[in-house]
Amino acid sequence: MTAELMNGKQLAATKQAEMKERVAKLASDGIVPGLAVILVGDNQASQTYVRSKQRSCEKAGIHSVLKQLSAETTEKELLAHIEELNVDPSIDGILVQLPLPKQISEQAVIEAISPNKDVDGFHPISIGKMMTGEKTFLPCTPHGIIELLKASNIEISGKHAVVVGRSNIVGKPVGQLLLNEHATVTYCHSRTPDLNAITKQADILVVAVGISKLIKKEDVKPGAVVIDVGMNRDENGKLCGDVDFNDVETVASHITPVPGGVGPMTITMLLENTIESALNRS
Ligand code: GUN
Repeated sequence: MTAELMNGKQLAATKQAEMKERVAKLASDGIVPGLAVILVGDNQASQTYVRSKQRSCEKAGIHSVLKQLSAETTEKELLAHIEELNVDPSIDGILVQLPLPKQISEQAVIEAISPNKDVDGFHPISIGKMMTGEKTFLPCTPHGIIELLKASNIEISGKHAVVVGRSNIVGKPVGQLLLNEHATVTYCHSRTPDLNAITKQADILVVAVGISKLIKKEDVKPGAVVIDVGMNRDENGKLCGDVDFNDVETVASHITPVPGGVGPMTITMLLENTIESALNRS
């Protein structure tokens, strides 16, 4: 079996083209959605992600502001920037790129962002609402995964979804969103004794652990849907996921590529959250 490719890049392009029209219409009503991105320090991967987010904003007509702060920034200084943005009427969304330097508490920073501008969906209020199924900003990567599954006409309800990874950004929330869609959800992580025994039971397998090509075809049930959230470099410096694509595509029914799978959907959901936030301006 050769798996069907789940083309996140294409779906993202379609959705972003629709958003561009929505943004143009909003602009004609005098509302220009605004996103502020704060980048602290000089993490290369973070710089690349942030640049990509800004480029997508520009293309969609969303006003974007980048605050680039030094690696020595104190927590107090960062919190002051957030306070300023919280009350800036031209800003609808605030995103502080993670990870942060170790002198800064990520949790304190996340909690300082106004829930009304929490387009990352990381604030405890947003997370709580996600858990109870109330309308809120959903975290972008998990939401993008659900959208990609739906656009690929994959039934989630009643399926066994296995999530490998338990980060606050991807693993935990994607499991919750799959549960909200009526899947039976199992979480695996670094202390799961027999990973393979569990991943092999998955109808939908989501892998978000940051280990190059961890998942091989013997870890996957024939016909499973495989979502790869990894973004790693292989031994030749080539971009690769947490799933051994060439191996697993021979057994899966659907698979996301890296790059061009989940990544573009993350940015798309960020833009969507920013536009939603602008619509909620009072
Ligand atoms: N670092 C890696 N992914 C993300 C994300 O979705 N949002 C933020 N703020 N930081 C990240």
